[in-house]
Amino acid sequence: MLESLFLGALIAAAAVEAAQPGAVKPVAAPMRDLTWGQLNFLHTTDTHAWLSGHFLEPSFSADWGDYISFSQHMRKLADDKGADLLLIDTGDRIEGSGIYDSSIPKGLYQYDIYAQQKIDLITTGNHELYKAYSIDMEHNTTIPNFKENYITSNLDYIDPKTGKRVPQAQRYRKFKTKNLGINIVSFGFLFDFTGNANNSIVQPVADTVKEDWFQEAIKEKPDLFVVIGHVGVRMEEFRTVFKAIRKEDWDTPIAFFGGHLHIRDAVSYDSKSLAIASGRYLETIGWMSIDGIVKKQPKDDENEEVEIKKGPTFTRKYIDNNLYGMYYHTGLNETTFPTKEGQKTSKMIENARKTLNLGHRYGCAPRDLWMTRAPYPGKDSIYTWLEEEVLPDVVVNKDRKDKPRLAIANTGGIRFDVFKGPFTRDDTFTVSPFTSGFRYVPDVPYEIAAKVIGLLNSQSRIFVAGLPDTRQLTIPQLMYPRPKYLDETEAETEVDTEVGTVEQVEDETEARLELRGMDASGDNDGIFGGYTTKDDISKDGDDTVHKPIDFYSVPNCIQAEIGFPEEGKPKTVDLVFLDFLQPWMIPALKFSGGDYSAKDIEPYMEGTLTDKLANWIGDNWKDECK
Ligand SMILES: *[C@@H]1O[C@H](CO)[C@@H](O)[C@H](O)[C@H]1NC(C)=O
Ligand SMILES: *[C@@H]1O[C@H](CO)[C@@H](O)[C@H](O)[C@H]1NC(C)=O
Ligand SMILES: *[C@@H]1O[C@H](CO)[C@@H](O)[C@H](O)[C@H]1NC(C)=O
Repeated sequence: MLESLFLGALIAAAAVEAAQPGAVKPVAAPMRDLTWGQLNFLHTTDTHAWLSGHFLEPSFSADWGDYISFSQHMRKLADDKGADLLLIDTGDRIEGSGIYDSSIPKGLYQYDIYAQQKIDLITTGNHELYKAYSIDMEHNTTIPNFKENYITSNLDYIDPKTGKRVPQAQRYRKFKTKNLGINIVSFGFLFDFTGNANNSIVQPVADTVKEDWFQEAIKEKPDLFVVIGHVGVRMEEFRTVFKAIRKEDWDTPIAFFGGHLHIRDAVSYDSKSLAIASGRYLETIGWMSIDGIVKKQPKDDENEEVEIKKGPTFTRKYIDNNLYGMYYHTGLNETTFPTKEGQKTSKMIENARKTLNLGHRYGCAPRDLWMTRAPYPGKDSIYTWLEEEVLPDVVVNKDRKDKPRLAIANTGGIRFDVFKGPFTRDDTFTVSPFTSGFRYVPDVPYEIAAKVIGLLNSQSRIFVAGLPDTRQLTIPQLMYPRPKYLDETEAETEVDTEVGTVEQVEDETEARLELRGMDASGDNDGIFGGYTTKDDISKDGDDTVHKPIDFYSVPNCIQAEIGFPEEGKPKTVDLVFLDFLQPWMIPALKFSGGDYSAKDIEPYMEGTLTDKLANWIGDNWKDECK
């Protein structure tokens, strides 16, 4: 088995071109094959505008244009096999990369580039909903781009002209697949999100499934239900949809496609259903296949019944988004792989990047700084770097610069690692895509201010009146702890071969959440660091065989002490925080013994964390890369 894997690596070891100029080339690695069924799916989620691919990571260096070429070949393969292929996207397409965040208005190039891909089922994530602007853009741009393929089962829009509440897109979609005529009823859900701007309304999923239209739709007796959603596959909202369908229809297969938590994962709710989650940032293209679908009504022009197999059987794979793998799965090479449409899209990305000046270098990062691949606190943690180096330099109000201050930021505001080497304008947006500025409460007694961070970081669900759920403050991978039954596996000791240390991974289930590798040096066996997913199905879901990478937990929030006296603690401090944290601050201060209200909060200084980060890097890392 392993030998044939290695043979695969040898055959395709020839150099291959990456799509965006300057991106690293993919690296050969042992591969696992995709299993095709009657119906097959390619799934993206939480792409967060990473349409350029990852410039410095060989495993993920293909761009959106390459994905278009890939899917065109896969559709052709499906046709040749007499099977069907559907493409799915489950939201959070925006916010997280310069191609969306750096243009004015935002997404000036993003929406059109994205729409070059033909997606069969698409829905909305929470990131499309933070700003009234991006909600409007979904309504007047993305939905027209994808027409009847766009589904929002529990999301409404307030029409700015009439003030009326209307479904953001159609509630569900009923259609037949092209080749086999499989009848599908499909839904598109968003988790019970509450942080949306006021021109949208998210209906709790438990209410939606009671509505007449939903109850009618699940009586349709299709050959298959396809539930897509910006929902973690272990979150309650998908369970709710599953139970509602099963109450009405006990045996029609159901395919679930989820996201939001930025992880690779798969869960089988029963023997006739499978749910997969396909990662983040165009690192992962999820694959699902279903065989043994029983057709309840034969296709119109079909005389004979489709062969009825025992089933259904589901398979899944997580495809690393790089050209090496795309060639491997399609049997093509650098000459035969790129399609006209794919190349056109890669060119659109390249042009947008040039216009937006995304390759502009602010400086050279002297070392790697990790979100979760290094312990926090620690010298390789991006959060320790922020606390000790960046925040003390940038959190300055010139009229109050002599006042000691505590500056608090939430870890979820940081979205990506810093790699040693050139640090570009694009990188500022991948690391810090949000537009949070700084606010503060002046002159808070130190003993009160100092208690706030502990409340924000409390793990157990303490009850503090008015305090919103603190899980929303951390990175997506840590927002929803996995259920206890999965935590029963014993802790594993993993050897980090790179630095020669032995790390005790406290929680094996946590360690599998986000595993990503840029180290492509590999061993003699050609295996290098990357995703090594263990889901409910098995340990071999990744299409590429990798060595595992360590994962370390981070708190919800970090805090820098700035301008403190040499000895002892100050009497009062300015409590400075990212404005995203405002809903938590007053309840946390109250609980700590401070009677403050929203009117005590004032802007602290001009500019966003992203601006400050870019300036700091320009000032401190200005040397050329060696
Ligand atoms: C869509 O809405 C946004 C935000 O209101 C607006 O800026 C944009 O011009 C609109 N686009 C179209 C095509 O109507
Ligand atoms: C949403 O909030 C804004 C700003 O507070 C307000 O101007 C607008 O009228 C509100 N829109 C709706 C639909 O409630
Ligand atoms: C790519 O495949 C084609 C068709 O099989 C073959 O003719 C060609 O030589 C290959 N090119 C490379 C660079 O391997």
